[in-house]
Amino acid sequence: MTMVQTKRFSPFCPAKTVERVKDQGAYRMSHAHSEVARPLTSHPVKNLQGELRGPLRVPGDKSISHRAMIFGLLSVGRTTVEGLLEGEDVLRTAEACRALGALITRQSEGKWSIDGVGIGGLREADHVLDFGNAGTGSRLMMGVAGGHDITTRFDGDASLRKRPMRRILDPLTQMGVQVLAQADGGRCPITLKGAREPNPITYTTPVASAQIKSAILLAALNAPGQTTVIEPEASRDHTEKMLAYFGAEIAVSPDGTHGRKIVLTGRPELAPRPIIVPADPSSAAFPIVAALITPGSDIIIEGVMINPLRTGLLSTLNEMGARIEELDRRIEGGETVADLRVRSSDLRGVDVPAERAPSMIDEYPVLAVAAAFATGTTRMNGLHELRVKESDRLAAVADGLAANGVSHHIEGDDLVVEGGAGHVKGGGMVATHLDHRIAMSFLVMGCAAQKAVSVDDETMIATSFPVFKPMMTALGASMTESRAR
Ligand code: S3P
Repeated sequence: MTMVQTKRFSPFCPAKTVERVKDQGAYRMSHAHSEVARPLTSHPVKNLQGELRGPLRVPGDKSISHRAMIFGLLSVGRTTVEGLLEGEDVLRTAEACRALGALITRQSEGKWSIDGVGIGGLREADHVLDFGNAGTGSRLMMGVAGGHDITTRFDGDASLRKRPMRRILDPLTQMGVQVLAQADGGRCPITLKGAREPNPITYTTPVASAQIKSAILLAALNAPGQTTVIEPEASRDHTEKMLAYFGAEIAVSPDGTHGRKIVLTGRPELAPRPIIVPADPSSAAFPIVAALITPGSDIIIEGVMINPLRTGLLSTLNEMGARIEELDRRIEGGETVADLRVRSSDLRGVDVPAERAPSMIDEYPVLAVAAAFATGTTRMNGLHELRVKESDRLAAVADGLAANGVSHHIEGDDLVVEGGAGHVKGGGMVATHLDHRIAMSFLVMGCAAQKAVSVDDETMIATSFPVFKPMMTALGASMTESRAR
């Protein structure tokens, strides 16, 4: 057997999004991603051939990376992390945890340590916590801070300031948190006065959302008694798994056909644990779809997390006829991972059931791109939550498809894409609205469209996948700063 070397990419992005702070070995944000927009164009290429260069590894999972920082803060002692996603969103959460008392140090690429203060031990931040573009970071930290007797100010970029926070403020208020200030409609900037002794509550989430569930559970860590969260449809379970791993008493049981009931006993002493962050399936989605739609492609992506609550895209692509092979299913850092071999495929349109949405909520933009290249119609049902992501993703995807000559329509909360049987015109300029997944999805479209596809800004890709461009280029994609013609 020939040994192939895995390609790893430096996490640094050219825009100097982070800078080394020598005294702490820590990273701080230096430039907001949105300061100066940088358009990028993806040109059609012959194929993507990872085989020539060895398997690739996409960066660590964003959801687990945020939580690694938070669990580090809430444990007494040193938590170590390997494979952390060093994207802007996670760095913002690290900054927030530092402001609340953690000592956070970057040892080397992806390797970090967090010396936490434990539940009940947080100090009040002396500045506004600026979460940039990060919905997950801000919402989870509202739970963390809300469970402590401190006043905390939350803010973010223009995208975050548009996102609904009432879904978090409502349950937190029931737990005794006071909302001292908020912008219209329950949006950032928000000031919370946390509860000295949060009330344990029973709460049914109005939408399937791991962020709502996690904010409640994190606040409940400091509540005397049992808090119950019922979700009508199961959302990603990283918080529950990490709570158990760090030593909390938590019971998870099925509830109804697709739902779950989670019962957490408050006031545990969380013990610091080593965390290994698996590769992010939501980032892997981009090279996967790029290889499927670009003829003659054959790539391997290593160690992708295949937690069943995150694999809706893979199930859907399989139904579409995608040639995706799982090469080595194994457990890494408590999660199931596999190497995925992806070859270009003749895709066919499918109906994606609404109940699959929670397990692929971030993957619809890139699925819409795959659907554009398929034969026949793809109908994606029940996409209401896409309207409140980093952008109104339903509108942004529809506009991007229109700009590139793809027939589609929106019916209520459903997106219907008429595939071009392998042919997509391209040639469009796509408005990204500060949304990393819109930018990456349409750059993927450009790899296989008849004409190049441009996006109006690539800078915010650094929030989740700072090495997207060098990695895609290493696979054979062609991305330049000049505009499509
Ligand atoms: C996330 C939950 C999801 C997802 C987001 C990450 C998390 O949001 O879209 O990118 O880490 O908990 P919702 O909880 O709003 O569905």
